[in-house]
Amino acid sequence: MVERKYCGEITEEEIGKNLTIYGWIKTIRNLGGLIFFEVRDRSGFVQVVVDSNQKKIFEVAKKLGNEWIVKVVGDVRERPRENINENIKTGKIEINCKELEIINESQALPFEVDSEGEINEILRLKYRFLDFRREEMKRNLYTRFRISTSVREFLNSEGFWEIETPILTKSTPEGARDFLVPSRINPGKFYALPQSPQLFKQILMISGLDKYYQIARCFRDEDLRADRQPEFTQIDVEMSFVDEEDVMNLTDRLFKKLFKDVLNIDIETPLLRMRYFDAMEKFGTDKPDLRFSLEINDFTDIFKQSDFTLFKSNIEKKKRIKGFLIKNVIISRKEKDEIENLVKENGIPGVIAFNIEKKVSSPLNNYISENELNKLKDVAENNDTIIFFIGSGETFLENLGKIRIDLAKKYNLIDLNKHKLLWITDFPLFEWNKEENRWDSKHHPFTSPKPEDIELLDKDLSKVLSRSYDIVMDGFEIGGGSIRIDNIELQKKIFNILGYSEKEVEERFDFFINALKYGTPIHGGIALGLDRIVMLFINGNSLRDVIPFPKTQKGTCPLTNAPSDVSKDQLKELKIKIED
Ligand code: AMO
Repeated sequence: MVERKYCGEITEEEIGKNLTIYGWIKTIRNLGGLIFFEVRDRSGFVQVVVDSNQKKIFEVAKKLGNEWIVKVVGDVRERPRENINENIKTGKIEINCKELEIINESQALPFEVDSEGEINEILRLKYRFLDFRREEMKRNLYTRFRISTSVREFLNSEGFWEIETPILTKSTPEGARDFLVPSRINPGKFYALPQSPQLFKQILMISGLDKYYQIARCFRDEDLRADRQPEFTQIDVEMSFVDEEDVMNLTDRLFKKLFKDVLNIDIETPLLRMRYFDAMEKFGTDKPDLRFSLEINDFTDIFKQSDFTLFKSNIEKKKRIKGFLIKNVIISRKEKDEIENLVKENGIPGVIAFNIEKKVSSPLNNYISENELNKLKDVAENNDTIIFFIGSGETFLENLGKIRIDLAKKYNLIDLNKHKLLWITDFPLFEWNKEENRWDSKHHPFTSPKPEDIELLDKDLSKVLSRSYDIVMDGFEIGGGSIRIDNIELQKKIFNILGYSEKEVEERFDFFINALKYGTPIHGGIALGLDRIVMLFINGNSLRDVIPFPKTQKGTCPLTNAPSDVSKDQLKELKIKIED
């Protein structure tokens, strides 16, 4: 038997060897007396040459088409000097074909696999098997595999057990709608697909298993975005007898290894930490992108004595003058208009742009006193621009946060070759749900309040802080977790605050409340979004490029056409009637 090699792994070391390769035809060039074709497999590709002297093989080679599968047996030889391609691993050699067998043909292709241009995404998803033959997509899958391998190595070495939890289960409140699965043997009853393994991992701690992890599939029926899929994967972790420091420290070390193993980057740990309220004040978001600075500045104090009506009246109304100092940018009238549009899209009515030049080009010039100008000059230099906005409250900050990102993109402030991770801590335990007029959990109902804030549960819910933490990378939330409530009375109280009636608690969480009665350890954990981590590691901007078989924005799968109709018989068995 002739030795089989992967196409992309044949180098000068194999010169003189007789080898077998299997693969897909990538390109074909027929030069009359010689036919060159490239054969591709998982590892890369290699060039094969057929000489017209080898009549029989030459006739077969003439028939070949793109993406047909062949078996080639041949000798590895050095390429003539003029054909050497230094840019590819197999670029110095070629295979002199001695046997050629067509294993299978391919139909005309819906798109050129190795095309350099954009390929319609729906088409790529429909023909995912062709999409994965592309170098870039193969690399994405490989990166995903390396990340999950590295995670498993790390957690195994730390004494965690990988334990599975059910997919057909009961709802866990993670803030989205459930996907439901009807039960044929229990007509009219439904399983819910897990939004996360949250309650099971807590039950595993009550079971005394101490350290659990799972690379777990989660399902959430919510509006989809580039960073949100209905079906996604978490690196789910839970530990007993720990506090916030233990979980964050473990996660720091996990990321240190991941960056080293996968990107060969040494990251500095412990990772930066920022309190929720500070993140909101400085960056207008709880997931700040710190690859660039551009903090939100508060200029209100500078204008406290201002006579300018716009400033004066708003300061009297307790509004703040906040904005950005953009270094080394003097914006033109046109750019100011552009920013104004951008700002309107983000829900802020107006913008005041101000260039710190000797001759200030802003109409604001007339309204700013010498004293105020001097104070501005303490923070800004001649070539800088300051942009002000007037407003107040959390929505104002959130809008500024969006503008911060837009400005960074506009002025190319983001260093795309850099990654920046940080922790956000000290979240409020609750957030007010304006539409429904009630308190919601900021994370989930099993998150412990800070012990010193427990008494505030009866006084001021807006002030209660939680023992939770989020990890953020390049402006995306890549994970979150908390120390959990291990006291049954406190757990019931939180359910009560969230508006669950006793009956509802019994129906939905009885199994969990029951488990809490039998010796619950102190415990906490975290879940990391594997898909988002892979997306950021490849510098991508859509989860669809890193999930093997993702859903479209509309929640469909172009490959299988799911979701699809089911037969009348199936519905009948399930005792389900579809309304028109
Ligand atoms: P959370 O809901 O914050 O926490 O989810 C954890 C992480 O999962 C990722 N993620 C998603 N990724 C892709 N598509 C989605 N639809 C999606 N939703 C969430 C995010 C997020 O940070 N049980 C808790 C964790 C815990 O408390 O231990 C939970 O699920 O990266």
